[in-house]
Amino acid sequence: MQLINDLESWRRYCDEQRRLGRTIGLVPTMGALHEGHTSLFRAAQRNGDVVVATLFVNPRQFHDDDDLAAYPRTPAFDRAAAKENGVDCLIEPTLSDMWPDYPNATATTVSVGGIGDSFEGVGRPGHFDGVASVVAKLFVLTGACRAYFGEKDFQQLAVVKQMARDLAFDVSFFGCPIVRDADGLALSSRNAHLSDDGRRRALVLSRALAEAQAHSDTASAHRQRLAHVLGAVNVEVAYADVVDPVSLRTLGDEDEGVGRALLAVVVEGVRLIDNGDVQLVRGER
Ligand code: PAJ
Repeated sequence: MQLINDLESWRRYCDEQRRLGRTIGLVPTMGALHEGHTSLFRAAQRNGDVVVATLFVNPRQFHDDDDLAAYPRTPAFDRAAAKENGVDCLIEPTLSDMWPDYPNATATTVSVGGIGDSFEGVGRPGHFDGVASVVAKLFVLTGACRAYFGEKDFQQLAVVKQMARDLAFDVSFFGCPIVRDADGLALSSRNAHLSDDGRRRALVLSRALAEAQAHSDTASAHRQRLAHVLGAVNVEVAYADVVDPVSLRTLGDEDEGVGRALLAVVVEGVRLIDNGDVQLVRGER
């Protein structure tokens, strides 16, 4: 596995791979790798030629300095996990290369209006501007590629897809399924901050989703059911909604087909998200 730290080598490596006729699968990460990340590496390996992963804890997407400081950093483990799971080139750019003006604001920001303003955008102001800005830069440096993102961060995937459409990035997207622990909790580096009791309470997320997925119902009936299941446990509910999977517009009882349930709760100060497809039927008029 090749390790790259500087922007010039990054561009050169990707240009050379394309010149040799190889496709590039790009997997952006912030490290602290777990099975959710390695599933993306393996999907990229199955589906293309060269797997390029990035590891960069992007300060611009944290609106809280404490959250940034507490973010787990396990670079030696990450290098081994990347190597074992099919990554051909691991790119660990420096902060000064990615954001030369940091900690001052960078003049240029990529902001995806609408999709990026709701849900996580409400609870974490500026978060998606930080995500869109860094992912835009990763796309510029990598060039034409296939990009792999987890559906775990469903809104993030919708935001970066919209950005790529609007700015004509030569990138095709592969959304990969959520990897869960045996008890149903979606894997996240944040899970480590939960006590045993917090973790037990956090399972309400996957339970609420499973309940919703067991029924075909109107959007409002789905919302009521989600609220009912989440409300039975001592967690703070940030949102529980059913949305259009592309625009993330909140769906109503006139909508039918497949919607996406988006859930977020706060347990012991830890914000946790989950989501999944739900079947919608039109309401009676
Ligand atoms: P990070 O949280 O490290 O996640 C990197 C990728 O792994 C994202 O696409 C995320 O959706 C995916 N992922 C995380 N947990 C997963 C799980 N349980 N199942 C499936 N996929 C999972 O997301 C980011 O980093 C950053 O915002 C980034 C895109 C790298 C920009 O900084």
